[in-house]
Amino acid sequence: MESVAQEDTLNRVGNTPLVKLNSLSKSNIDFFAKLEGHNPFGSVKDRAAYWMIKDGEEKGLLTRGKSIIIEPTSGNTGIALTGIAKLLGYQVEIVIPEKASNETKEIIRNLGAKVFETSDDLCPKVGAGTDQSIALATSIASSRPDTYYSPNQYANEANFKGHYVGTGPEIWKQTDGKITHFFTGVGTGGTITGIGSYLKEKNPEIKIIGCQPQQNHLIQGWRNFEESAKPDLFLKRENVVDDWAHVNNEEAFSVVKEVFEKDHLLISPSSAAVYACMKNYTFDENSCIVGIFADDGRKFQSVYQNQNVFSESEFVEALKSAEHMSNLAY
Ligand SMILES: Cc1ncc(COP(=O)(O)O)c(C=O)c1O
Repeated sequence: MESVAQEDTLNRVGNTPLVKLNSLSKSNIDFFAKLEGHNPFGSVKDRAAYWMIKDGEEKGLLTRGKSIIIEPTSGNTGIALTGIAKLLGYQVEIVIPEKASNETKEIIRNLGAKVFETSDDLCPKVGAGTDQSIALATSIASSRPDTYYSPNQYANEANFKGHYVGTGPEIWKQTDGKITHFFTGVGTGGTITGIGSYLKEKNPEIKIIGCQPQQNHLIQGWRNFEESAKPDLFLKRENVVDDWAHVNNEEAFSVVKEVFEKDHLLISPSSAAVYACMKNYTFDENSCIVGIFADDGRKFQSVYQNQNVFSESEFVEALKSAEHMSNLAY
C-alpha cells in the first residue's frame, strides 16, 4: 500500500498540459507543445518508469524492500526510476554516461540512487559490445540475478504501453481529434511508437515525424541512428514513422532564447530540437501540429552556459520568470 503522499506523487504521472506555441502558430496552422516537464520527476520518462515498475511488480519480478532496480540511462529515466522506485520501497543503481549534465547526475544522487559513470557517448548505444553503460549494468545485474532487476527500457513493452494508453489518448483529447502532425525525438522509441500507434488507429492520416539529431550531438535523451543501432522497442513498430526531420546542435540551441522570449517557456535542449524541427518543416493550411517537450530547461544551466545560450545571471533570471514550472518532486 502506498501512503497518501506517495499516492499523490504517483497520481501526478501523466495528464500533462498541452500549450499553444504562439511564436510558430499562424492563422490556419496551430502548433502545440506537450509539456512533459510537468510530470512529478520532471520528464516524459516518469511514464515509462512508472509503467515498467508496475509491470515488474505485477509479473512478480520485483519485491518491495528486497529488489534492487538497475538501469543504464542518459538521464531522465534515471531520475524517474529513482524517484518512483524509492517512493515504492526499492533501492536503485543507475549507470550513466559521464557526458550527461552534472545537474542530472546530482539529482539522481540526491534522490538516493547509487550512480556509476561510464565514458560512453551521451546516449547509451544499443548493440553487442558497443556500449559500456549497458554492459556494466548487465554485468552487475547478472552477479546477483535474484536481487537485481533491470527494466531494460530499450525492449520493455510497458514503456510502449504507458504512451499507448496514456500520452496518445491525452493528445487526441487535448486537440479534439484535430491533430495532423506529431513530432518527437527518439531514445528507446517508447514515446514515438506508443503515441504514434494510438494516433494512427484514431486517424491513419496523422503524420508521425521522428526528429534526428546530428552525429555526436548534445541532445540528452536522443539517439542518432547512423551512430547507434535502433532499439528493439523501436524496431517492433518503426513503420509508424512517416518521416524524419533532421536537426543539428546549433539549430537546436539557437531557438532556446527565442522560445523563452516569445512563449515564456524555459525549454530543454531536446524540446528546442523538436521546436527547430517543427519550425523548419513545411505544412499545409489547416494543420494542427503537436511536439513533445520531453522535459524543461531547469537542469541544463551548465549546458546553456557552455553553449553560450544564457549567461549565469540570464539563466537565473529566466528560471525565476518562466511561467510553466510545476512543483517537482526533487
Ligand atoms: C529528453 C528526452 N528523453 C526521452 C525522449 C523519448 O524517449 P523514448 O524514445 O525513450 O521514449 C525524448 C523524446 O523526445 C526526449 O527528448
